[in-house]
Amino acid sequence: MLVAQQLCVHFGARSILKDISFTTPPGKFCAIIGPNGCGKTTLMRALSGDIPFSGEAKLHGLGISHAKSWELALLRAVLPQASNLSFPFTVREIVKLGLTTGVAEERDKSDPSELCELALGQVDLEGFGNRFYQELSGGEQQRVQMARVLCQVWQPLLDGKSRYLFLDEPISSLDIKHQIQIMGIARDYVARGGSVLAILHDLNLTAMFADTVVLLNHGRVFAHGSPSDVLTTENLSQVYQYPLAVNTTPKAPNIFVLPHAASGHRSTAELPPG
Ligand SMILES: Nc1ncnc2c1ncn2[C@@H]1O[C@H](COP(=O)(O)OP(=O)(O)OP(=O)(O)O)[C@@H](O)[C@H]1O
Ligand SMILES: [Mg+2]
Repeated sequence: MLVAQQLCVHFGARSILKDISFTTPPGKFCAIIGPNGCGKTTLMRALSGDIPFSGEAKLHGLGISHAKSWELALLRAVLPQASNLSFPFTVREIVKLGLTTGVAEERDKSDPSELCELALGQVDLEGFGNRFYQELSGGEQQRVQMARVLCQVWQPLLDGKSRYLFLDEPISSLDIKHQIQIMGIARDYVARGGSVLAILHDLNLTAMFADTVVLLNHGRVFAHGSPSDVLTTENLSQVYQYPLAVNTTPKAPNIFVLPHAASGHRSTAELPPG
C-alpha cells in the first residue's frame, strides 16, 4: 500500500505540493496526470525518497522520509523523467544497474546476464546490449531505462508485499507501437501482483490502462478515483484550460478524450508579424 497524507514540498520560498493525500492499493495501476509544472515529478521524487517533504508518506508501512535507500530499493524501482549520462556506458551496463539494487537472494538464484537479456527482449531491444547508450535514439534510451527498472523489481512480490514501479512519463519519447508495448508491460506487472504508479500525459492511454487516476493541479489533488470518475469533460477542461470532450463509443469499452483543435488553436495568421 502506498499512502500519502498531507504531503507538502517547498523549493525555497515556493510551495510546490500542498496537502497531497491519496492512497494507491497494491496490485493496481495508478496514473498521475496534470498539466506541465503542476508537481507530478516533484510528487514522484518525494514518494521515491529523493527530496524532503513534510506530512507523511508510507510504502507498505515504511516511512519513506526516514527509510534507508536500500530498504526503498527493495520495494520500488524508479524510472525518472530524464536520464542523462555523461559516461559512455553500454546498454547492458545500464540495465545491470537495476540488478545491483535487487534482492541478493533473488540475484543469487538468477543468472544476471539472462535477466538483463530478458528485460532487453521485453522492451524490444534484443541485440542492443553492447551498443553505447549515448548513441541510441531518445525512444531507445527510454526503453533501456525501462529494462533497468524491470530488472530491479523483476519479481513483483517480495515477502508477499507488492513491489512498485514508479514511472515518470515512461512513454513520452515512444512511437505508438512501443507506447502500447510499455503500457502492456506495466499492466502485465500488475497482473502478476506488482503495482504501478505512472505519470502520463496521454489521457487516452490513461483511460485504457489505469485502474485509478490522480489528477493534480497547481500542486494539489484536483480529483482522485477511477478513470471514468476523474477523466470527465468538466475536470479536464478546467485543469488543462483547454476545450475538450470526453466521449465513449459503443465499439470501444474505454472513454476517449478529444481536444477541440479548431476552437483552441491560434493559427499563425493571427500572430503579429515577425
Ligand atoms: N529543483 C527545483 N527547484 C525549484 N523549483 C523546482 C525544482 N524542481 C521543480 N521545480 C518547480 O516545481 C514545479 C513543479 O515541477 P514538476 O517537475 O514537479 O512538474 P511536472 O508536473 O512534473 O511537469 P511536467 O509535466 O512538465 O514534467 C514547477 O513550477 C517547477 O518549476
Ligand atoms: Mg515532470
